[in-house]
Amino acid sequence: MDFASYAIDLVAVLLLALGMKGLAKVRTARSANGLAALAMGLAVVGLLLQLQPGPTAWLWIAAGTAAGGIAGLITAQRVPMTAMPETVALFNGCGGMASLLVALGVALFQNEQADLVARISIVISVFVGAITFSGSIVAMAKLQGWLDTPDWTQSSLRHGLNISLAVACLAAGLALPADPAGWPLWGLVLASTLLGIGVTLPIGGADMPVVISLLNSYSGVAAAAAGFVVGSQLLIVAGAMVGAAGLILTQVMCTAMNRSLVSVLFGGALGAKAGGSVGGGGDEAGYTRIVSCSPEECAMALESAERVVFVPGYGLAVAQAQHALRELAKLLEANGAEVTYAIHPVAGRMPGHMNVLLAEADVPYEQLVEMDTINPEFPRTDVVIVLGANDVVNPDAKTDPSSPLYGMPVLEVDQARQVFVVKRSLGAGYAGIANALFELPQTAMVFGDAKAVLQQLCTELRSQGVGTKTPVAA
Ligand code: TAP
Repeated sequence: MDFASYAIDLVAVLLLALGMKGLAKVRTARSANGLAALAMGLAVVGLLLQLQPGPTAWLWIAAGTAAGGIAGLITAQRVPMTAMPETVALFNGCGGMASLLVALGVALFQNEQADLVARISIVISVFVGAITFSGSIVAMAKLQGWLDTPDWTQSSLRHGLNISLAVACLAAGLALPADPAGWPLWGLVLASTLLGIGVTLPIGGADMPVVISLLNSYSGVAAAAAGFVVGSQLLIVAGAMVGAAGLILTQVMCTAMNRSLVSVLFGGALGAKAGGSVGGGGDEAGYTRIVSCSPEECAMALESAERVVFVPGYGLAVAQAQHALRELAKLLEANGAEVTYAIHPVAGRMPGHMNVLLAEADVPYEQLVEMDTINPEFPRTDVVIVLGANDVVNPDAKTDPSSPLYGMPVLEVDQARQVFVVKRSLGAGYAGIANALFELPQTAMVFGDAKAVLQQLCTELRSQGVGTKTPVAA
């Protein structure tokens, strides 16, 4: 049986690695996810073969699998795309809790069999698992708007509190290997749980996705440590991969948002910049040179455009306008225009948000162009349509050192010949600041819900025969 369980574990590790590789491409992501799920299923089978549990344990395992599986299925089916960061936070929290419980179980009931490596791994698993669990729950609650940032967390009091908790964790962690089931275990659980809350609570809304990505990395570290505790190679490999991937993603997001990890973790709600409320910036009074136009006027410009670039942002996801956008793109292509989509790394509210959204509407992946590639193309672009994006097209990020966005790489749509910005109002984006793009001479605002405006554009173009006539050769 040992050989069988090792062989299954090995196959599971290979499948998981293949699954992770496949996730890097949209086309293969779905099947890759299936491979990774199969790997996890095999790992459970391998472990059961190795442990050979009795009938009561079988019942527990079956009940746990069914409860977890059903909860996961319902969550995955119900959660809207815009609530994905909260969902990821919740899943990270579950991962942290699972590692914590595994380590607790071994520490309490099997500590005599645990060697020094396993005992040290218990310390790491409990410490990182508890921080991940409580930190992720706080992050989820903040993103959901259930929890505000208390004022006291913005004073130096929190640093003193967190340092005390870290020292308590250290003391309990050092004492635990010698006394795995005693007070150090419970001390470590309590201090680490509080530390997770203490570190996450002060962080502002705008920085929360970075924190979630970091907590994702922690959940990997906790899982890898739990792998050492129970001797599971799969858990060690999977945990290490998640830990490394989460760390890389955290770094990518920090760079794209022009924030350092230190300022995210220790800067508190300063990271929220101006509050981070979408559309609620309320800085409409600041604008003096706004030109707005109707969808009909916008359609006229599109009709004669040869190169059109769409810039999707968070508002496109809110409006669920991806299918209407694809319809419009098809019409323009049938009219002979070259259509591309400019993708900013932090457009929307989660990494890859726009890629996933546009993939839902079957937008060809080749048409999605990353920021560094599309920026030099804007000067020869006839029309740019900004759809529910704001911060990621703010030219102040390049030119105004006093702007909170200064230094953040942005899509340079201001270089295009004509820009239409589709949004409901002059309200701010996530950073809560005004956007100089709206007042440029080449910009016109098309006010309205992104989906409604796109549908009107399609109707208008169709009524002009666009997409139904063969394009006239240039
Ligand atoms: P934002 O700057 O947040 O702007 C979104 C705009 O969408 C708002 O100004 C809003 O204006 C508009 N909008 C909302 N609902 C709409 C609807 N139904 N129809 C049309 N427009 C609508 O979006 P962005 O440009 O995508 O930038 C993303 C921001 O989020 C950046 O600041 C980024 O740093 C931050 N962030 C991103 C991530 C990741 S990983 N993607 C993580 C953390 C933070 P109205 O209210 O006037 O309509």
